[in-house]
Amino acid sequence: MAITFLHAVSLFVLSVNLANCQSFIGVNYGQVADNLPPPSSTAKLLQSTSIQKVRLYGSDPAIIKALANTGVGIVIGAANGDIPGLASDPSFAKSWVGANVSPFYPASNIILITVGNEVLTSGEQGLISQLVPAIQNVQNALNSASLGGKIKVSTVHSMAVLKQSEPPSSGSFDPGFGDVMKGLLGFNNATGSPFAINPYPYFAYRSDPRPETLAFCLFQPNEGRLDTNTNIKYMNMFDAQVDAIRSALDSMGFKGVEIVVAETGWPYKGDDNEVGPSVENAKAYNGNLIAHLRSMVGTPLMPGKSVDTYLFALYDENLKPGPGSERAFGLFKPDLTMAYDVGLSKSSQCINLT
Ligand SMILES: *[C@@H]1O[C@H](CO)[C@@H](O)[C@H](O)[C@H]1NC(C)=O
Repeated sequence: MAITFLHAVSLFVLSVNLANCQSFIGVNYGQVADNLPPPSSTAKLLQSTSIQKVRLYGSDPAIIKALANTGVGIVIGAANGDIPGLASDPSFAKSWVGANVSPFYPASNIILITVGNEVLTSGEQGLISQLVPAIQNVQNALNSASLGGKIKVSTVHSMAVLKQSEPPSSGSFDPGFGDVMKGLLGFNNATGSPFAINPYPYFAYRSDPRPETLAFCLFQPNEGRLDTNTNIKYMNMFDAQVDAIRSALDSMGFKGVEIVVAETGWPYKGDDNEVGPSVENAKAYNGNLIAHLRSMVGTPLMPGKSVDTYLFALYDENLKPGPGSERAFGLFKPDLTMAYDVGLSKSSQCINLT
């Protein structure tokens, strides 16, 4: 009796801890910097945390190799500049997969290839029209390497693909993207690949810098925002942004297409004239977001599960242009210590089953 009870308790504890280290927490590894630690150190750092996935903007072989046999899921990217070649030349797509995927998989757990970053809102008509053909050719190249279905293909969008995002139930894509968006969603739907999006409550606060907006963006106590179409009261901006995307997808008939948050984050410092960056705010946003994801409560339109979320970012990128905040999104310092604690250390949250 006592043993059975203890057994039940330990199973319960185990399952709670498993939920805490399930695979929905990822991180972006941007490399626009000249002070990054060696790939082997980064691989060790990731394994010491409850981060299960890492997104690269390119396909740096050193980091892909360093992550071999760690189980860490890896997202690699084809650059916007590769899109014309990938779209027009199936053999280029084959050699891209041959160079960047086949030598490393499956030891390195590549899970997704993102073709292009924020292409639809780039204003570059040539790239926009070549995006779906490029994605299709990468898929075809994976299929001929017998990797189709094992590794998914998608692209990453900015929130500006939405024409309307408030209230969340009225979320809809800008009809200006018409057929390209339909083509992309058709591809996502047919191949089971995710719709990847970069929601930043931080930018929402910057354009509306009131204390109540800050609390709404930081998952802190606030009055909430009522969606009068659904009578759902939203208590944080992250859920509102993700559900606006959900509504836009659903309204086009793609209820089965899954959403991935490819980037979200908050800078811990900025220039004197910037509103929002601070250690306190960054710690609140990232820490409360992680706790929200771990709670498995989901969003009002997608209850009971957590959307895969890649935090931005692993390290500061000290060579990025723009305001100071652009160089201050890092969760870890180049010496591998935490910039500030958001509860990612493995010992506190995860049981290592291996
Ligand atoms: C999505 O894919 C499913 C399964 O292949 C298909 O039955 C459905 O028609 C597709 N939906 C749209 C909107 O294309």
